[in-house]
Amino acid sequence: MADLQEVRPAFELRNRNYIVTGGAQGIGLALTHAICEMGGNVAVLDIQSEPAVAIQSLSSKFGTKTVYIQTDVTQQSSLQTGFSKALEALGGRLDGLVPCAGIAIDKPFVEQTWEEFNKIQEINVRGTFFMAQLAAKQMLAQGSGGSMVLIASQSAHIGLPGYRMAAYNASKGAVLMLARALAVELAPHAIRVNTISPGFVDSEMTRIVRALKTQQQGAQMWLAPPLQRLSTQSDLTGAVIYLLSDAARHTTAADIPITGGLHAGTIDGLIHYE
Ligand SMILES: NC(=O)c1ccc[n+]([C@@H]2O[C@H](COP(=O)([O-])OP(=O)(O)OC[C@H]3O[C@@H](n4cnc5c(N)ncnc54)[C@H](O)[C@@H]3O)[C@@H](O)[C@H]2O)c1
Repeated sequence: MADLQEVRPAFELRNRNYIVTGGAQGIGLALTHAICEMGGNVAVLDIQSEPAVAIQSLSSKFGTKTVYIQTDVTQQSSLQTGFSKALEALGGRLDGLVPCAGIAIDKPFVEQTWEEFNKIQEINVRGTFFMAQLAAKQMLAQGSGGSMVLIASQSAHIGLPGYRMAAYNASKGAVLMLARALAVELAPHAIRVNTISPGFVDSEMTRIVRALKTQQQGAQMWLAPPLQRLSTQSDLTGAVIYLLSDAARHTTAADIPITGGLHAGTIDGLIHYE
């Protein structure tokens, strides 16, 4: 008889503990909400003094433990203290990490400055690298395995239509390769590391970039994916829950594109860029 394990319980995250960085708003907040909905406890680390939604309200809504810890992932001491406080709040055990803290700029390559480049790499790459290192150390000490879902981007694979994001592209390429390297190195310890690669997602990040473009250009860009709309933050949650959960127990070093099909092509004939 084939191995017929039930699939529904495999998605359950109850009694598991997670750290989400950049969860004060946007994609990180949507993922925090989703993890709590699936029963997980979450410590949210973000540079903002207050999250957009009271993180504690998720505790009462879903019967999970949630805490918010102001943390700047570009500062070594802040990152380490944030992680320690998170671990303490979660009772000293960690099952997964979703490092979402990230920034982007849309500017011609020849105008991007030393400072802008550094800031993007410090948050998107170094912050992710060392948060993943702390998580890995903890999971190795526990000996219980774990799952990390790093946030890459379609920008790690292609130049997004309508954008000029060389420093951001470089940072997300680094995140994608970091995840693959960690997946291979940590696999013997049952620590899985995967990525999602979102396309155009409705968030503050794209709102800022969209504000720089004419309305007509913006509207055309969001029609570029074959599914012809901007992704919502909730479009990303199912894939991340899957990757965190036991349903993905034999999946590591994978990347899930969530782009409305943009990674395969754009709708010909509808879009004309400058
Ligand atoms: N929005 C998109 O279209 C899109 C597409 C692909 C990938 N992504 C990635 O998704 C992630 C989340 O982006 P978003 O769209 O939700 O953006 P967002 O700007 O809404 O959220 C980013 C969060 O990161 C936090 N942050 C910034 N600097 C920080 C620091 N130094 N320390 C700690 N926290 C810090 C911010 O306070 C904010 O809460 C990013 O890694 C981004 O690159 C976004």
